[in-house]
Amino acid sequence: MNFNLSEEHLMIRDAARDFTQSELLPGVIERDDKQEFPAQQIKQLGELGFMGMMVSPEYGGSGMDTLSYVLAMEEFSKVDASASVVVSVNNSLVCWGLETFGSEEQKKKYLPRLASGEIIGAFCLSEPEAGSDATSQATTAIDMGDHYLLNGTKNWITNGSTCEVALVIAQTDRDKGHRGINALIVEKGMDGFIVGKKEDKLGIRGSDTHTLLFNDVKVPKENRIGEDGFGFKFAMKTLSGGRIGIAAQALGIAQGALDLALAYSKERTTFGKPIHDHQAIAFKLADMEMKIEQARMLVYKAAWLKDQGMPYDKESAMAKLAASEAAMWVTTEAVQVHGGYGFVKEYHVERLMRDAKITQIYEGTSEIQRIVISRDLIKNS
Ligand code: CAA
Repeated sequence: MNFNLSEEHLMIRDAARDFTQSELLPGVIERDDKQEFPAQQIKQLGELGFMGMMVSPEYGGSGMDTLSYVLAMEEFSKVDASASVVVSVNNSLVCWGLETFGSEEQKKKYLPRLASGEIIGAFCLSEPEAGSDATSQATTAIDMGDHYLLNGTKNWITNGSTCEVALVIAQTDRDKGHRGINALIVEKGMDGFIVGKKEDKLGIRGSDTHTLLFNDVKVPKENRIGEDGFGFKFAMKTLSGGRIGIAAQALGIAQGALDLALAYSKERTTFGKPIHDHQAIAFKLADMEMKIEQARMLVYKAAWLKDQGMPYDKESAMAKLAASEAAMWVTTEAVQVHGGYGFVKEYHVERLMRDAKITQIYEGTSEIQRIVISRDLIKNS
C-alpha cells in the first residue's frame, strides 16, 4: 500500500494551489457579500483544463483521473467553495455523465465546449416536492414521436442562469415508476426554457443557484441520454461520482479552516503565551487534524476505487458523509478558536462555516448517504 501522491498528482495539486492563491483569494469576501458569480475565474479555470479534468482529450478534456480532480477540488475549496461547486457540477455531473452515458454525437457536440469552459452545464434533478425522494419526479417529458414535450419546475439548480446546457431528469411514463424516467439534454436557447428566481443563500453565495422552469419545451429525441427509461439510473450513477467531488469540496473547506485556525493560534497571545499553548486550543487543533485526515483517507480511497473501475457507491457516500460532517465541525471550531474575530468576515472562517453547511445537504443529504451506505452493507452481507 502506497499513500504517496505521484509527481503528476503533486503538480496538479500545486497548480490548483497557485491558482487559488493568485486568482480565487482576491475578492472572495466581496463576491460572497454581493452574491457575485466568479465568471472571470471560471473562464480561466476552463482555459487551464480544470472544467473538464476527467474528459478524454478526444473530446477536448484533460484526460486526468478522479484523484487529480479531488486534489484540485480540495485546493479550490480551501478558499472559494462558490467557485469549486461550479467546477464540481460541470466536471462530475455534466461532463462525466455525458461522456459515460451519452451517444457519440452528444459527446462530440457538447463535451469540447463544456470541457474548455466555453459553456457551463447544469444538472437538474431536484424539484419543489422531489429532493431526497428522487423517483417522485413531477416534471414530465411526454413522448411526442420525434421529440419530448418537457414541462415542470426544477429547484436549487447550481449554474442555473449561467449554464448553456442542462441535463434534465423527467418522468415519461409514470406507470413504470423509476423505469419511466428519462434524462434529456436541454439547451438554454430552446423555447420555453425559463430561468426563475435566484436563491439568496446562507453559503456558497458566489455560486449561481436558480429555479428553472420548462414550459412546453420541445426536446429532440436525439437529446435523450441512453435508452428509454434510463434517466433515474443515469442520475444515481452520476450522483455517485459527483459525491466524491463534493466530499473533496468539504475536505478542502475543513482544511482551509484548520489552516486559518492554526495560523491564528500562533499569532494570538492570551495570558502571556500563544493561544496554541493552552490545551483548550491545542486539543481543538488536534481533533480538527484527526477528523480531516480520517475524511481524506475516505475521499482519496473513493476516488482511487473509481479510477480502478471498481464499485464505489458505498465509498463515495461514506466519503461525502465523513467529509461534510468534518467540515461542519471543523469550521465551527475554527470560528471558536478565532473568538470574536471568527465572527467577522475579514477573517474568512465565518464564510467557510457557512459554506460547509451545504455539503451536508446537496448531492444527497447526510441522511441519504446513510441510506446508501446501509443498503449496500445489508445487500452485500
Ligand atoms: N447505480 C445504479 N443504479 C442505482 C443506483 C446506483 N448508484 N442507486 C439506485 N439504483 C437503482 C436501483 O438498483 C433500482 O433499480 P432496480 O429497480 O432496477 O433494481 C433503482 O435505481 C431505484 O433504486 P431505489 O429503489 O434504491 O430507489 P429509492 O427511491 O429508494 O431512492 C435514493 C434511492 C438513494 C434515496 C435516491 O433517491 C437518492 O439518491 N436520493 C437523493 C437524490 C440527490 O442526491 N439529490 C441531489 C440533487 S443534485 C445536486 O444537488 C446537484 C447540485 O446542484 C450541486
